[in-house]
Amino acid sequence: MAITGSTRADQPPAGSGETRGQIPGQIPGQIPGQIPGQISGQTPGRPRRVTILGSTGSIGQSTVDLLLRNRDAFTVEALTAHHNTALLAEQAKALDARFAAVADPADYPALKEALSGCGIEVACGRAALVEAAERPADWVMAGIVGAAGLEPTLAAVRQGRIVAFANKEVLVSAGSLFMREVAAHGATLLPVDSEHNAIWQCFDFTRVEGIEKITLTCSGGPFREHSLAAMRDVTPAQAVAHPTWRMGAKISVDSATLMNKGLEVIEAHYLFQLASERIDIVVHPQSIIHGLVTYRDGSVLAHLGSPDMRTPIAYALGWPGRTAAPTPRLDLAAVGRLTFEAPDDQRFPALRLAREALARGGAGPTVLNAANETAVQAFLTGQIGFLDIAATVEDTLERMPGGNLDSLEDVYNLDRTAREIAATLIAPRGHSRVAE
Ligand SMILES: NC(=O)c1ccc[n+]([C@@H]2O[C@H](COP(=O)([O-])OP(=O)(O)OC[C@H]3O[C@@H](n4cnc5c(N)ncnc54)[C@H](OP(=O)(O)O)[C@@H]3O)[C@@H](O)[C@H]2O)c1
Repeated sequence: MAITGSTRADQPPAGSGETRGQIPGQIPGQIPGQIPGQISGQTPGRPRRVTILGSTGSIGQSTVDLLLRNRDAFTVEALTAHHNTALLAEQAKALDARFAAVADPADYPALKEALSGCGIEVACGRAALVEAAERPADWVMAGIVGAAGLEPTLAAVRQGRIVAFANKEVLVSAGSLFMREVAAHGATLLPVDSEHNAIWQCFDFTRVEGIEKITLTCSGGPFREHSLAAMRDVTPAQAVAHPTWRMGAKISVDSATLMNKGLEVIEAHYLFQLASERIDIVVHPQSIIHGLVTYRDGSVLAHLGSPDMRTPIAYALGWPGRTAAPTPRLDLAAVGRLTFEAPDDQRFPALRLAREALARGGAGPTVLNAANETAVQAFLTGQIGFLDIAATVEDTLERMPGGNLDSLEDVYNLDRTAREIAATLIAPRGHSRVAE
């Protein structure tokens, strides 16, 4: 079962005795309305046609790695980047892509030059990213970082595509409006975030009434054992040095503040339609168990695997089948011990802020996300300290209590305003009040 915008765990289907396949509009294990064994929009037997939004990033490169190892099963329609034209051109040539787009027009000449004579179409700017997302593909990886991915990801959704969903800020920012578009256009979201991918694999979508809660695990990040005083002076280089995962800079900093887990609670709320109270977080430094589903009879189904994003990406790439991935196989005897602890809200207030923003509803998560993106960028460029990130987000939320989001235009406007306010809060602060 995949996520179609209509799966509701908080509102189980009427009656508890339904047999598999009877939930209106949904056929277990398949995309709604399609012929068994056939992938939506894909001719049986022909390779799956893939587009990657954000192919030069960490998620994008892992996806490219899997595609290069499974050449016969996939063709590539479009690839996109922000600035990294050299890598984009290399990927486009290696994968024989039809279209390559770079977001910043200033980088267009370099991309054109690098791909001249290859027969690959080249374009630039925001419209080109939307074009990449709209071009004919069976499967689109949403791998851009931040709310910048909203417009192209929505474009893929509006084409009714299967969207492998990594770009969590899109869902945090646009929430139920985004899910409404998914449902309206018959698109399918396949969760790529390792925790959500794990939950997806353990979650019985056909009997949601039997699910009590889900648990997302959290590595605790590089500062799990740091005191507040020690965290005050950590550097961007220390913050991006994640102990178990290799990821882009922004998500690495989010993992260090635990904002990443807050964003994931919001993401899980929308993907699995669960209230915040039914989404637990547990710190698990080894990052071996990624997610757990607790059923009302006390059974707990967990998903385990080595911390390598190519496993969840491979699951989404091959879904509803499985694609081979060269990830290290789990050797539990070698791992030895799996440990767990509760997250510390005092040292890591970001998780609490995310839950509060979600509880406000409407605009709360949009403001949280915009303020966090602004603060993380300021931290990475040395303008503020590590503890200032959460404090900036908290102050921005105080100044912008939220309100309703009635349209995607509201999301874009609110996102812009929240970034402006967060930017004004960044300048005067020296060190965080969180530490005082
Ligand atoms: N990395 C992971 O293991 C992981 C795990 C779970 C979820 N995620 C989520 O997946 C998303 C991508 O993460 P990542 O770690 O792969 O990020 P990343 O390494 O920073 O890569 C981001 C990608 O987006 C492009 N990009 C950045 N800003 C853009 C903009 N304004 N407009 C258009 N394209 C832009 C980048 O292009 P350039 O290379 O040209 O800058 C790059 O291709 C994030 O939402 C993250 O939370 C990541």
